[in-house]
Amino acid sequence: MFYDVRKNDHGLPHDPFKAIVAPRPIGWITSMSKTGEINLAPYSWFNGVSSRPPTVMFSSETRKDSLAFVEETGEFVCNFTTYELREQVNLTSATLPRGVSEMEHAGLAAAPSRLVRPPRVAASPCALECLWLKTVSLEDIDGRPTDRHVVFGQVIGIYIDERFIKDGLLDTGAMRPIQRAGYHDYYTVHPDTRFSMKRPPGGGGGS
Ligand SMILES: Cc1cc2nc3c(=O)[nH]c(=O)nc-3n(C[C@H](O)[C@H](O)[C@H](O)COP(=O)(O)O)c2cc1C
Repeated sequence: MFYDVRKNDHGLPHDPFKAIVAPRPIGWITSMSKTGEINLAPYSWFNGVSSRPPTVMFSSETRKDSLAFVEETGEFVCNFTTYELREQVNLTSATLPRGVSEMEHAGLAAAPSRLVRPPRVAASPCALECLWLKTVSLEDIDGRPTDRHVVFGQVIGIYIDERFIKDGLLDTGAMRPIQRAGYHDYYTVHPDTRFSMKRPPGGGGGS
């Protein structure tokens, strides 16, 4: 099948786009307002975009609290989402009034970050402490604003639960990451599904 997105004539009960750009890592973003309120919410339009300097992005579909808080204080933390924490991840996507803590709502303990003010989720095995670089507010091809805002941050500190470091390497699969797909679907990574490949010679930079 093929469909023209401008007509959206896919004929399916639900838009398949998010099931194609999938599975997506989930940035579980902690941020703080200028008056010290703490916010936590999952963003699956999230990824790393550079390894040096380590840089991440998340996209806010409409102007949500995380975006507002990051722009107020210039800092945020990306917590790693795991199968064990799946219910809490979901709970923190609830729309609560500004100033009501999603961490308390989901029964999650906070742990202090080292280099930024927003705390990390204590139970999450990794956390990226970030400084806000910029927000890019997207326009469509006709130049119309889309109310989609991509936040870029540079990672300045990284927390890792050392239980997941084996022989000097971080065992991603052992952390059982969860990733977002289409509809209400998620995937998790099982350590057995890992395979390794060396890059061909002369492959240039990047990963
Ligand atoms: C797994 C998951 C991924 C999500 N990803 C996004 C996303 O990438 N962008 C977005 O705008 N909302 C996303 N949402 C919805 C937000 O988490 C939700 O709107 C939340 O209330 C935003 O919180 P905030 O206003 O405190 O930032 C996602 C929800 C879930 C459960």
